[in-house]
Amino acid sequence: MSDYVNEIRKRRTFAIISHPDAGKTTLTEKFLLYGGAIALAGSVKGKKTAKHAVSDWMEIEKQRGISVTSSVMQFHYNNYCINILDTPGHQDFSEDTYRTLMAADSAVMVIDASKGVERQTRKLFKVCTLRDIPIFTFINKMDREARDPFDLLEEIEQELGIRTYPINWPIGSGKEFKGVYDREKKHIIAFRANNGQREVEATEAEIGDQGLDALIGSDHHRTLADDIELLDGAGYEFDLEMVRHGKLSPVFFGSALTNFGVEPFLEEFLNMTTPPLPRKSDAGKIDPFDPDFSAFVFKIQANMNKAHRDRIAFMRICSGKFEKGMEVYHVQGGKKIKLMQPQQLMAQEREVIDEAFAGDIIGVFDPGIFSIGDTICSVSNKFSFGGIPTFAPEHFSRVQQVDTMKRKQFVKGISQIAQEGAIQIFQDLGGGMEEIIVGVVGTLQFDVLEYRLRNEYNVEIRMEGLPYQHIRWIENEELDPKTLNLTSDTKRIQDLKGNKLLIFANEWSIRWDQEHNEGLVLAEFGKS
Ligand code: G4P
Repeated sequence: MSDYVNEIRKRRTFAIISHPDAGKTTLTEKFLLYGGAIALAGSVKGKKTAKHAVSDWMEIEKQRGISVTSSVMQFHYNNYCINILDTPGHQDFSEDTYRTLMAADSAVMVIDASKGVERQTRKLFKVCTLRDIPIFTFINKMDREARDPFDLLEEIEQELGIRTYPINWPIGSGKEFKGVYDREKKHIIAFRANNGQREVEATEAEIGDQGLDALIGSDHHRTLADDIELLDGAGYEFDLEMVRHGKLSPVFFGSALTNFGVEPFLEEFLNMTTPPLPRKSDAGKIDPFDPDFSAFVFKIQANMNKAHRDRIAFMRICSGKFEKGMEVYHVQGGKKIKLMQPQQLMAQEREVIDEAFAGDIIGVFDPGIFSIGDTICSVSNKFSFGGIPTFAPEHFSRVQQVDTMKRKQFVKGISQIAQEGAIQIFQDLGGGMEEIIVGVVGTLQFDVLEYRLRNEYNVEIRMEGLPYQHIRWIENEELDPKTLNLTSDTKRIQDLKGNKLLIFANEWSIRWDQEHNEGLVLAEFGKS
């Protein structure tokens, strides 16, 4: 078998999602620890003030203690080469999460055992189901008081509309947490509080064994026997095909902080999930093992490192092998190019790479030519992957620079941040760049905009919130928006390409405007 086929088979590329604080960062760190990618985890981030999770690299993230943007990490474990795509937990960055999920083959969903399905889990999950990718559930924090496991499963099934199959089953929780029962191997993995160390005892003890009373107590033993009987009798059957189509989620119970159940989870998960899958393109499905290189851009990030002052386009390789210096074709630009400074990332550390394979994520230097969703392919075999839709902004602000002398920096900064897809920018109809209307999906993006303009472009801005919540593109090309008969809380604007749009304070206005302007065609998504 040729080398590159072998390499691609080893790849597992997944995103990790959770409501903030469920334990995503802790779990990721434990994965990296097992893979030998970092030497120490857990203890590094005991307190919020001293929290420097490897995947958090922006100042603002450290200040707020949330992941603002996604980052990518690669490590090896057993014979696998794993790419983890970290996603921002905060709902205001759902769009970033959505794009990241476009680059993943499966998702790991971390749930806090005391809280169950939280608001953000729901939203992120919805994004996952848009792509039918396999979803693996890790119910975390079993070392704390947890909710009843049956209730948790029922909630996942009802709220998220996916079937569940517990791979292991918890015995007690909090102070009474005794470990988990592995349903396939039919044995107990006993829990001992171990200060976050690696080792966990796997004790060969079956339900009904005399010794089990001593290990977990007779009450827990009885409950476990009843629970397993109920699960075996009334639960869903395990079906790998359903897992792979995102219809059944394997569920694992554990505790990332104390390292309990993390390694078995990683092993099982790697077994069940797939190597890179074919991707749809306008030339049919593109097989990852196709020797011709192809990739698409799912994220653009400027000034990741202040010292570098650069812009990086992240691309997911979909087929073949990438080699440093190779000539490729940028479909949207219609040009042959060389991908400059190809690198892989591990939080703040970057490593320049010579080769990468389908399934991998690489960052390349972007001189300002790439947009999100662009396809890069080999010069001899040209096609284009499906685009990545943008979310409609729901919050709008008028933004002005405070110091009019800084106009150039203001325009450059705000345009670059818009190209990254973090914000969308508009103008008053017939207006210039002095005043910009910024639209975002979540209001925290306004804070990020202000922070980044100050820190990366040295520009102070004034922001004034606008009362609009909905946006529509006017599809009628010839129409002059000034001639429209609109409610007083509808505003006419344009994007930087000159497309005409309307923003509305409420849904009622959208309906009123449509009813009173015959032939007006409004689209919810912009043309990219
Ligand atoms: P996130 O990335 O999903 O936002 O969560 P993160 O890993 O940062 O974990 C959130 C908090 O939960 C952290 O507490 C972390 O130590 C704790 N945690 C994670 N996994 C477990 C677990 O298995 N058991 C227990 N008991 N705690 C866990 P923190 O940063 O120390 O601060 P605080 O939020 O407790 O103040």
